[in-house]
Amino acid sequence: MIFGAPGSGKGTQSEKLVAKYALQHVSTGEILRDEIEANTELGKLAGTYMSKGELVPDRIVIDMLDSLIEKKRHVKGFIFDGFPRTVTQGEALSKMLSKHDEDVNAVISLEVDDGELVDRLLKRGQISGRSDDNRETIEARLKVYYNQTSPLKEFYRAQGILKEIDGVGTVDEIFQTIANEIDQLIK
Ligand code: AP5
Repeated sequence: MIFGAPGSGKGTQSEKLVAKYALQHVSTGEILRDEIEANTELGKLAGTYMSKGELVPDRIVIDMLDSLIEKKRHVKGFIFDGFPRTVTQGEALSKMLSKHDEDVNAVISLEVDDGELVDRLLKRGQISGRSDDNRETIEARLKVYYNQTSPLKEFYRAQGILKEIDGVGTVDEIFQTIANEIDQLIK
């Protein structure tokens, strides 16, 4: 699992991890943005939360993930990016994986200070125009991260699988640190 605040580099590092380890990338944010783009019922509902920087309700996201894991159950492994985001989602993920005698192997948490997060997201907002990359929504997303998502760090620390990594530096330097952690795990 790749974990961290909005803008910490989860998506960027996931791409490199997929290339190196041939894992299946699962980004709930991307899946939900695709649903919005396709104007589905799920997309319409999710969009009302995402545009405010709030989390889409647990039940919706958990059901979405459950069917995805079933569909992709023959892959070598997953990189979960942006899921889980609440302790309820974390507990549900363990249950889903235990049906296949699996569990989360490692949680890589990218640690980046708020100033840098806001700078990165504002910059992306200017270039890509992602609709939640404006100052007001970024601040709401950060609050949601600290209130609802960061408690998961204790959840995974207690399981002994949390790896906190400095997420400030070049993309390649950060990737090298993550790859070292994963290589040790594979050994
Ligand atoms: P999601 O799409 O998951 O967005 P996020 O968590 O806000 O994360 P971002 O994609 O903004 O950042 P990132 O950490 O992936 O960083 P990135 O690599 O892109 O979720 C969006 C919304 O969907 C949520 O707010 C919620 O409403 C909903 N949602 C999603 N999952 C949900 C769930 N499980 N439950 C409920 N609701 C859910 O990098 C960011 C920028 O920084 C890029 O421009 C990048 O080029 C740059 N960058 C990356 N690394 C570096 C570096 N080392 N130095 C400088 N710049 C860098």
